Amino acid sequence: MKASILIFSQTGNTLKVSSSISKGLEICGVEVDQVSFLHRTRWKPDNADLIGIGCPVFENRPAEVVPHYLADSGFDFAGKKAFVFITSGGSPAKSLWHLSEAVTKTGASVIGGIQLRGCSSFPTLFGLFPKRPNGKELERAEKFGRAVAASIMNGESLASHYKIEPDQGGIFYDRVGPILNYIKKKTTPLPISDSMKCDLCGNCIYECPTRSITIENKAIKFHNTCIVCYRCWQVCPHSAITIKFSPGDGLIERLIYGEKMERFFGDIKPDEYVGTNLYKDALARNLKLKYDRNNPTAEYDYIERK
Ligand SMILES: Cc1cc2nc3c(=O)[nH]c(=O)nc-3n(C[C@H](O)[C@H](O)[C@H](O)COP(=O)(O)O)c2cc1C
Ligand code: SF4
Ligand code: SF4
Repeated sequence: MKASILIFSQTGNTLKVSSSISKGLEICGVEVDQVSFLHRTRWKPDNADLIGIGCPVFENRPAEVVPHYLADSGFDFAGKKAFVFITSGGSPAKSLWHLSEAVTKTGASVIGGIQLRGCSSFPTLFGLFPKRPNGKELERAEKFGRAVAASIMNGESLASHYKIEPDQGGIFYDRVGPILNYIKKKTTPLPISDSMKCDLCGNCIYECPTRSITIENKAIKFHNTCIVCYRCWQVCPHSAITIKFSPGDGLIERLIYGEKMERFFGDIKPDEYVGTNLYKDALARNLKLKYDRNNPTAEYDYIERK
């Protein structure tokens, strides 16, 4: 029995979940192949019996690059079983459902999914839900992997809490998401590169999920396919990429994803720790996520850039 998982994970949260699910599957004898979305052209799940797709929530939807890729690649997964998983730095709205819909359109039959919280390093959400997913959540992910394996190998039905229902997640963030996405793309600034600091190392090009960065005339150029995820800003080793935020930028996002709004309209539990939004700090001290491409699931931490 083979499973093939495609994961989009910029800061390691969804990758941690994927690795835990894989562990659960492997314990039950399933052979697992995990492929990063950055290497998506290498993802060849044709021989797999089971498909897994995981990504973070961006603007209350599964990060758009993933459903777009599934839709545009002409996959035909008829007869295959699939599962989905997401991580969110706040209320995920109906993202798990939207991701499952995108996978269903490939012909695969989605048997269930899991959603967990993942700390955020996006500038306006910086610092929220620190150190999530935590150990207990990753144990849940592993358990989910074992349950999926039992379901496909022995025909056991998945527990009802793994089923993905269209009405889960509430409508507020689901409806707000596309509007916010539109406003964000119009109002938040594109990254800018400083050719004096840039040594053309290519990190930003490698990490950009939309392939919106090229080198032209020995300088970095951003294209308008950019979805302003600011990953390039995070990964530049020489602080050669900046974002020229003005005080009003991200204001709507900070209001909508404020703790009170999230608790009222979202799925944040009364005793769940949200953390402090380090938005100002992140920009003033040029904070970035401590990140090691060779150890992407390492403990989450921040460092100050010069
Ligand atoms: C561009 C961007 C947009 C985001 N939008 C949302 C959002 O609308 N709702 C939410 O709950 N989290 C949002 N997040 C937070 C991420 O979903 C969360 O931190 C996730 O765990 C990141 O996963 P990764 O580490 O696998 O990349 C956003 C993060 C980024 C980078
Ligand atoms: S990551 Fe920074 S230094 Fe490397 S190519 Fe991009 S802008 Fe230049
Ligand atoms: S912000 Fe940077 S990494 Fe993200 S899509 Fe735009 S160019 Fe690519």
